[in-house]
Amino acid sequence: MPDLFSLGRRGLFLFDAETAHGLSIAALKSGLVPACRLNADPRLIQTVAGIRFENPLGMAAGYDKNAEVPDALLALGFGFAEVGTLTPKAQAGNPKPRIFRLERDRAVINRLGFNNGGHEAALSRLAARASRPGIVGVNIGANKDATDRIADYVAGIRRFYSVAGYFTANISSPNTPGLRDLQAKESLDALLSAVLAARSEEAIRAGKRLPVFLKIAPDLTEEGMDDIAEVALAHDLDGLIVSNTTLSRDGLSDRTHAAEAGGLSGAPLFDKSTAVLARMRKRVGPNLPIIGVGGVSSAETALEKIRAGADLVQLYSCMVYEGPALPGRILRGLSSLLDREGVSNIRELRDSRLDHWLAAKV
Ligand SMILES: Cc1cc2nc3c(=O)[nH]c(=O)nc-3n(C[C@H](O)[C@H](O)[C@H](O)COP(=O)(O)O)c2cc1C
Repeated sequence: MPDLFSLGRRGLFLFDAETAHGLSIAALKSGLVPACRLNADPRLIQTVAGIRFENPLGMAAGYDKNAEVPDALLALGFGFAEVGTLTPKAQAGNPKPRIFRLERDRAVINRLGFNNGGHEAALSRLAARASRPGIVGVNIGANKDATDRIADYVAGIRRFYSVAGYFTANISSPNTPGLRDLQAKESLDALLSAVLAARSEEAIRAGKRLPVFLKIAPDLTEEGMDDIAEVALAHDLDGLIVSNTTLSRDGLSDRTHAAEAGGLSGAPLFDKSTAVLARMRKRVGPNLPIIGVGGVSSAETALEKIRAGADLVQLYSCMVYEGPALPGRILRGLSSLLDREGVSNIRELRDSRLDHWLAAKV
């Protein structure tokens, strides 16, 4: 007998990817999706960048761009949910179609281009849930037509400071022309100076210091990684998120949509993003938090990110294929893996396969 989740999932596959996404948000809003019943496992609790996470698995940015369902996502079992990317002004993004499912490869290509309802609308939703428990990170970006991109990131910090659990500065979407140039050394230096200065001012005003993470692309050269590590450490950034989608089309067997422009995510991104994660861990040393994202689909792949150097893990694309029971399944699976490993906290396994991933091809 197919369960409710798999029926819902098959139903969603009758629609194009973006319509299906809208329906899944509507289902989460309606409360029709059952919450995850899970016995919290104390071995999964993590304190990262001064924040206590009930477990290390988060929902990655891009699913809940407008902060419509963060609490419903947390109820699925996620230890944190990242909303956005949010830009100061609402913008429509690129023409449709702009999300493609590559079913055989358990992958997605998207060229959405930061479609979102803007700061104001998301702020009122986040303010309405601010007294609830649960960590909701706010992922911030720049409008396509911004004349001063850095100012858009600074506006995000200021606007959401009272309602965010943490911030992510997303400079790695391939779908806003020129955005990834912010990863270059001088630009990144200027961006982090401005963003972290705004954070310091807001921290004094609010009496709390929120962490700022930087989300980077997997398509970096060794020199590019060197530069990011150097600038991140020089600025005392709170952490890195590795990685966003890739421009590469390596390893795809489903060629139906392989030629579509945009960023590729899901299973084919796993190796590349994990290899870059390990390279960044080696460069920044043991103390800078790293969130590993890209192709996580199971407890094994989530743990492998941690073994490659991640403190926390996020996922998005595999939810499209596995449905809303995925986080619960991964968390239960992680507990079983910890039984097998005989460790008292999952963090003890961090870096345990760093060398393997350092040897892997990017
Ligand atoms: C449809 C779609 C939209 C996305 N939008 C965003 C976004 O707005 N901001 C962002 O930082 N990442 C965005 N991402 C990237 C994801 O957060 C994640 O970094 C990437 O997909 C790799 O993880 P995954 O393989 O688990 O999907 C998006 C991904 C997808 C598939």
